Amino acid sequence: MIRAKIAGIGHYVPNNVVSNDDLSKHMETSDEWIQERTGIKERRFGTKHEESTTTMGYEASKVALERAGITAEEVDFIIFATLSPDYYFPGCGVLLQRALGITKTEIGALDVRNQCSGFVYALSVADQYIRSGMYKNILVVGAEMHSMGLEFTTRGRGVSVIFGDGAGAAVVQATEEDKGILVSELHSDGTNAEILSLLSPGSHGGVHHDDKEQFGFPDKSTLGGTFITDKMLENGHHFPYMDGKSVFKKAVVKFPEVIKSTLDKIGKTAEDIDLLIPHQANLRISQFIQKVLGLKDEQVFNNIHKYGNTTAASIPIALSEAWEEGKVKEGDTICLAAFGSGFTWGSVIIKW
Ligand code: ACO
Repeated sequence: MIRAKIAGIGHYVPNNVVSNDDLSKHMETSDEWIQERTGIKERRFGTKHEESTTTMGYEASKVALERAGITAEEVDFIIFATLSPDYYFPGCGVLLQRALGITKTEIGALDVRNQCSGFVYALSVADQYIRSGMYKNILVVGAEMHSMGLEFTTRGRGVSVIFGDGAGAAVVQATEEDKGILVSELHSDGTNAEILSLLSPGSHGGVHHDDKEQFGFPDKSTLGGTFITDKMLENGHHFPYMDGKSVFKKAVVKFPEVIKSTLDKIGKTAEDIDLLIPHQANLRISQFIQKVLGLKDEQVFNNIHKYGNTTAASIPIALSEAWEEGKVKEGDTICLAAFGSGFTWGSVIIKW
């Protein structure tokens, strides 16, 4: 039986450390407020116009490839998850392929747009390709350069204090050993899709689906439209919007629910988890999940205090760090779980 194992995991975070006090020089906020609500002490920001989501993904990929003991030419598919791509299009998958110099083989590259659960979705997709025998080595990347798209003012403080930059990558490889991804489960509910969203640029004119009239849309006087208008910029519709309380309420229900049901599929319970790596959304959310599942401190990995919420990158960065710290060992049952914008959520159980 062919299974998909993680043969190598790596991460990259920029050198520039931005503390809560640094943020408070640009907006009305405080170290106390941020730490109390989110558990975040600092985050990393990439170097403007030098680093990007792709360059960070490239750095993380090099580490993952080296740890897997394969060269870039041996990769036969790329899956790249991000919500902060270098360009609106093409996606980061092909940019990473170019950066890695994988030109001869003309392998496929797929971009995943599932925000916080992007890496879990990407891993699940990779698992299916490997199990079907289609590919042998898939490079799965989650990377974000949020700092280029946040509003560092008091108006934007509810969102901008939470996010940070970074990247993680995994070489997902076919194996006939008794190890690898055991099961994955994916979900979504678009009922309140705009609760955590970035509306502009977009083909809906940068306005909420239920809110067309607010900015005089649709403008029937011209043929076609524009992805971004001055009005949208003025109203900050090119920055992420989040109804934090609603996200929190849904996350604390869906995280434990999906973890339990994924474990249940393979006859396991929370007790069997050696390490849970939840998407690093907010320390309060992770603590809530831990409590509901009755997990001990050593069963849950958190590093949000150092990096903030790095969205699609948070799970692979955390997995890579946990592995480096010796917290992910041969034979361990590792549970990855994510919840985020969409809403989308999911879980992957791995026998390491
Ligand atoms: N510093 C100081 N004050 C702030 C800040 C800030 N950075 N941000 C908001 N405030 C103020 C608000 O203006 C408000 O002031 P008011 O009472 O005078 O109106 C007050 O603090 C309370 O604001 P709320 O938004 O109600 O704050 P809340 O207690 O809900 O905390 C938070 C906000 C931390 C976002 C919380 O809702 C939360 O943790 N939500 C979960 C969402 C999350 O973690 N998202 C991560 C991304 S999504 C994902 O990865 C799943």
